[in-house]
Amino acid sequence: MYQAPRGTTDILPQEQPYWRFVEQKAVSVCQLYGYERIDNPAFEDTGLFVRTVGSGTDIVEKEMYTFEDKGGDSITLRPEGTAPVCRAYLEHGLHNLPQPVKLYYLASIFRYERPQAGRYRQHHQFGYEAIGDDDPVLDAEVIDMAWQLFLSLGLKRLSLNLNSIGCKECRPGYLARLKEYYADHIGELCPDCKVRLERNPLRLLDCKNRVCQQMAESVPKSIDYLCPPCEEHFSQLKKYLGLLSLPFVVDHLLVRGLDYYTRTVFEVQPEKGGAQSTLGGGGRYDDLIEELGGKPAPAVGFAAGIERIILNLKKQGVAVPTLPGPQVFIAYLGEAAGDEAMKLASALRRADVGVIESTGGRSLKAQLRQADNLGVRHTVIIGEQELQAGMAVLRDMTTSEQKDVPFDQLPKLLR
Ligand code: HAM
Repeated sequence: MYQAPRGTTDILPQEQPYWRFVEQKAVSVCQLYGYERIDNPAFEDTGLFVRTVGSGTDIVEKEMYTFEDKGGDSITLRPEGTAPVCRAYLEHGLHNLPQPVKLYYLASIFRYERPQAGRYRQHHQFGYEAIGDDDPVLDAEVIDMAWQLFLSLGLKRLSLNLNSIGCKECRPGYLARLKEYYADHIGELCPDCKVRLERNPLRLLDCKNRVCQQMAESVPKSIDYLCPPCEEHFSQLKKYLGLLSLPFVVDHLLVRGLDYYTRTVFEVQPEKGGAQSTLGGGGRYDDLIEELGGKPAPAVGFAAGIERIILNLKKQGVAVPTLPGPQVFIAYLGEAAGDEAMKLASALRRADVGVIESTGGRSLKAQLRQADNLGVRHTVIIGEQELQAGMAVLRDMTTSEQKDVPFDQLPKLLR
């Protein structure tokens, strides 16, 4: 028997209320803050991600679903949502619109990772981007939106971690200092970090190896190496977050797994989280549009993993609304009544009343049991007698009260 590929899941009907709940809250937050929806293709030219996410990152080195298509082009299934949005921003001349341009997306994301709780090979992200302005007000807005989303979902005990990793002017100085610091301890580093030290030294800060973590405790802090404009930007941002009463903590070890970030980086985590617990993360990426061949357009954004949000909703026992379904069931006995049931179902649906029609010619008792299991409010019963009288029996499923109603009055009554 075939099974869903490792690291993927089927979202069955009983899971759908969670998905609709999260999506609906995500969309309302975006509407409140003036972000418009964009949908990008699920795959792009491989070069787009190598260029933006960065060739020294885990995503590009190990996790991309890359293949040559039948025309010989190298294609990659979207391993994140920011680069495709930036590509579309340039391709469709969105830089000609008043800036910043504010966009959001709900998208499936593909990463060849080792599957475990909260980590999948296909997952779904809700993300948004504000492109074309470097004002720290926008950083504050993007962080505020993330926080409001989690609040509106009813999630509690979350932490909001913030850091600034500088820009292309000041980061090289910090990286040189980092390398110097680690050079004295190189023998103790895990094998991965020995390689990272050359290729991507920032990533040593969030290595999960215990010894590397101990070493990171007294590592030089990026915020001590910011150039004056980055320092000013960070201090403005902190002021704005204070004005918004957002409970952030500055986390000197917070760096992100993608190379495009400049200045602000932030993450939202559940209180007692493991490595795979981060609910969402984002930050500023002031050089990315230029990297892709556009005029400079500083930007900031965020994305959250929907599966992880749902895991936390369940863990915290948040009740989500059930989805509306048909409230009427039609039961019948005999072939002629079956024909009438089909006509009635059609008339009801045309009048906008959702209906489930009985099938399979079962006993009335079995049909009523089915109606009960479906949780409908009313059952319409048609038998020989009802056919002759031109009336159906309308049963209220909560009170078990029954009354006779002429067929042609049912659509109006039930609506
Ligand atoms: P990211 O941190 O790589 O950022 O992913 C965002 C969120 O997606 C994570 O915080 C996590 O909740 C979820 N996620 C990531 N990988 C997996 C996985 N394998 N299984 C389940 N959930 C996962 C980005 O992708 C950036 N594009 C965010 C951004 C937007 N930065 C600026 N704008």
